[in-house]
Amino acid sequence: MKLTKDQNDLLNGVYGEGAQLAMKIQVAIGESFGAEKMVPITRAHVALSNQDADLWLAEKLVKLGAKCRVSPTVNPGWCVPFFKEMEMGKKEDYEMMERTHEAYKKLGATLTYNCTPYIDTNVPNYGEIIAFSESSATPYANSVWGARSNREGANSALFAAITGYVPEYGLLLDENRKGTILVDVQADMKNDYCYHMLGMCGKKIGHGIPVFTGLPKHISPEALRNLGAQLNTSGAYDMYHIVGVTPEAPDLETAFGGKEPERKVVITNEDFDEVLDKISLEGNREIDFVMFGCPHFTLKECIYINNKINGRKLSKDMWILTSSHVKHVADLMGITDELKDAGAYIVPSTCPDQDIWSYLDGKIGLTESPKCAYYPQKRGINFVIRDLDTCIEGAITGRVK
Ligand code: F3S
Repeated sequence: MKLTKDQNDLLNGVYGEGAQLAMKIQVAIGESFGAEKMVPITRAHVALSNQDADLWLAEKLVKLGAKCRVSPTVNPGWCVPFFKEMEMGKKEDYEMMERTHEAYKKLGATLTYNCTPYIDTNVPNYGEIIAFSESSATPYANSVWGARSNREGANSALFAAITGYVPEYGLLLDENRKGTILVDVQADMKNDYCYHMLGMCGKKIGHGIPVFTGLPKHISPEALRNLGAQLNTSGAYDMYHIVGVTPEAPDLETAFGGKEPERKVVITNEDFDEVLDKISLEGNREIDFVMFGCPHFTLKECIYINNKINGRKLSKDMWILTSSHVKHVADLMGITDELKDAGAYIVPSTCPDQDIWSYLDGKIGLTESPKCAYYPQKRGINFVIRDLDTCIEGAITGRVK
């Protein structure tokens, strides 16, 4: 690969061993994908994790003196002050999260602990070259903002943040950003939950870049967030096109780069029913708790839930996961307290895929997000999946249809 002087200096250790290690791995990634050069990035988002291997790497980079040139926003782990106040969690859980916090602080990360940076903390402009990891973040950045990011892993995004460069391959190049599969959506897309279901049709859609047609003219940021998150739960997608939404898809012909689609797929309500049958526990049962916010909920969704509950008391705990900045505004607006009085907790900076939730082992949850249901299964926590309104009613009655 052809490197500039600065890139060669990074590789030769002029900027320290940490940056050298990051650059070495990035060059190897670039060479394996046939990249000819490295290009500068303007933003990064790291799907930080407090699990052993990721923490080992972050601490190793700190020891080697690495510091981010481009300060990345980071994913949630879990919020230490919140769970301390709730008197939840084990000593060893706290140690891991506190060590993670310290490591990323020393690396110079922007400690947002939020998995939807593309909505309000790290929003790229059209054409920016960036390094985003996290399932919903990469497709949103590419498909909604028209920025350019490959589907980075947590570690490769961190390396990019440290060196300030990414190898130029894949979605950074015009020719790889065209649609390949025509997806004609004939299902009723009546609310944001339907985009969770559409995203879960990855098996039927297959490998490639989908171009969705048949969707409503106006699609909310929350719906687009849901679509990207679930496309990467049911499959692996770094980009899609929606005509009239994706900047590079003003019309179908442009979306496909003037070529014929390789495949045509039709998605119907029956597909949604089939998907739901596979991923959700059966309904008509009691539930133990309700969880929302995977990916993190927006302020609009917190307000919506509060208005729907409308002062009624919940019979089951409701956990609403969001960013610390959304919680801050909800606090100021009095929404956090109103929800707490009802029995619902706005939880900042936290992900469902965390051992802190182990106390729910063996319990049955209710959620609107297939991704929320997917990860906690390994901890013995299983979910019924329904739309948002049904979940809110379930928290009130303690049962789900
Ligand atoms: Fe976000 Fe964690 Fe879900 S990172 S998308 S809350 S699994």
